[in-house]
Amino acid sequence: MLKWFTGKRNFLQSDGESKMNVPLANWDRRSFLKWSSFSMAAFTTPGLMAEELTRTPAMTEGPFYPDKMPLDTDNDLLVINDAITPAVGEITYLTGKVLSASGEPLRNAFVEIWQVDNKASYIHTRGENKEGRDGNFQGYGRFLTDSKGQYYFRTIKPVPYRAGRGFRTPHIHVAVSKNGQRILTTQLLINGHELNAEDGVYRQIRDPQLRQSILVDFKPLPDSKLGELAANFDIILGKTAEENAEGTIKGGIGKSELTREGRPPRNGRGGSQGRPPGSR
Ligand SMILES: [Fe+2]
Repeated sequence: MLKWFTGKRNFLQSDGESKMNVPLANWDRRSFLKWSSFSMAAFTTPGLMAEELTRTPAMTEGPFYPDKMPLDTDNDLLVINDAITPAVGEITYLTGKVLSASGEPLRNAFVEIWQVDNKASYIHTRGENKEGRDGNFQGYGRFLTDSKGQYYFRTIKPVPYRAGRGFRTPHIHVAVSKNGQRILTTQLLINGHELNAEDGVYRQIRDPQLRQSILVDFKPLPDSKLGELAANFDIILGKTAEENAEGTIKGGIGKSELTREGRPPRNGRGGSQGRPPGSR
């Protein structure tokens, strides 16, 4: 069934290079190239234009960035290590580029994503709701951008969850780190989802253009017998993160915005997504 993957041992990136210390899914090479060429053709990156690109707005990290990392942190959130049973949900190939406002790709940047499983639970210790967890969903993944600033994930289409007395529209949390510094924390939402307009976090973004920049189409993957989806989210940084002269990596993942206790820091950023999904 899962022909895309034959295991998790060979670490392959889109440009065929292996990167140090980065656990990546062992994509079936032929399928992977077919898919990546599709995704790049289907979603034209609005780079290389004279005008500045719309910068991706910073959004709250929320309280559910993993307080304990999963055993597997690669870019395939559907399968944990060598498990046979995949997670439940609408399979989605999430791709994109990390770019400067002038369209230059940012390589060697860590893109992290985290989201609820199909039962609307996070892997965070306080992020489980009454329906429990899908133990097969990784809940978190990371990827080091390649020479073209590209990243790739396989995950599920996000579902809504309750937060305190409210709810959150479906979203995927996204963080970008460079040289050990978190340089952007944001979220992507499903374009056209009926709950978006009522979502408090989304409504904090006033500018229509900025709102549009975080809305992502989840399109059927052509010829997919499993009904898989493809989604593309280009991340445009407000400031150019400096590349080292040698192009080497100075550090890994930047620190979460939350304190170790899981509380928002004193500057008030983060943590504004309400209580855990189970607290109704
Ligand atoms: Fe969230």
